[in-house]
Amino acid sequence: MRLGIIGSGMVGRTLAADLARLGHEVVIGTRDPGKLEAFVAEHPGVRAAPNSEAAAFGELVLLATNWAGTREALELAGADNLNGKVVVDITNPLDFSTGRPALALGWNTSAGEQVQGWIPGARVVKALNIVTADAMLKPREFTGGEPDMFIAGNDAEAKGEVTRLLESVGWGVVNLGDITMSRSIEPLAMIWIVHGFNSGWTKRNHAFKLLNR
Ligand SMILES: NC(=O)c1ccc[n+]([C@@H]2O[C@H](COP(=O)([O-])OP(=O)(O)OC[C@H]3O[C@@H](n4cnc5c(N)ncnc54)[C@H](OP(=O)(O)O)[C@@H]3O)[C@@H](O)[C@H]2O)c1
Repeated sequence: MRLGIIGSGMVGRTLAADLARLGHEVVIGTRDPGKLEAFVAEHPGVRAAPNSEAAAFGELVLLATNWAGTREALELAGADNLNGKVVVDITNPLDFSTGRPALALGWNTSAGEQVQGWIPGARVVKALNIVTADAMLKPREFTGGEPDMFIAGNDAEAKGEVTRLLESVGWGVVNLGDITMSRSIEPLAMIWIVHGFNSGWTKRNHAFKLLNR
């Protein structure tokens, strides 16, 4: 599959490497493709390009930007390049101003909803924001059984596509509903972050599972 990634931080690079390893063609989007020269050289199957090119290239596009720069990154990607496409929103709307990460918004909106509003022609699916980058495509590495990924979005077909991709690598997928359910999924990331923070970041190997009886 042709995949575009917007954002070249820890998440963007890790996903690019893992998706290429899984056999996908990847273009990682950035404001400065030159800075990814060494990374691209080490990862055959990954090309670095401006955000607009990554967005145009991807049959499915993953959004992995710092929350504060997300709107600008999407403007650079170009809403037209994303029309009709599935965009997986991995962002967490974090505010670091107090020294400890906190949610910058919530209750009556969410990053997922804002992203959908900025690219109205795209089919945004919230997913993958509740686990560390290195585990996003490696859920089988967790002990204690298959972890679950919570997703939300307005388009059933788009959620089906994301579900197939996630299940193919080993996630159980829990569809919570439309994109407004990002208001509940994003705070879940805070539980993940605070647990990691409280343990001095020595613990990043945690994920969630919905248990039934
Ligand atoms: N780190 C994790 O394990 C993890 C786990 C779950 C969810 N998340 C969420 O995933 C997202 C990405 O995480 P990360 O750690 O990779 O983030 P990051 O390194 O802070 O930022 C990712 C990318 O955002 C782009 N960006 C920043 N400001 C921008 C601006 N003004 N305009 C355009 N692009 C801008 C930059 O891309 P370029 O400089 O290349 O243009 C940057 O490399 C965040 O929202 C984070 O909360 C992270």
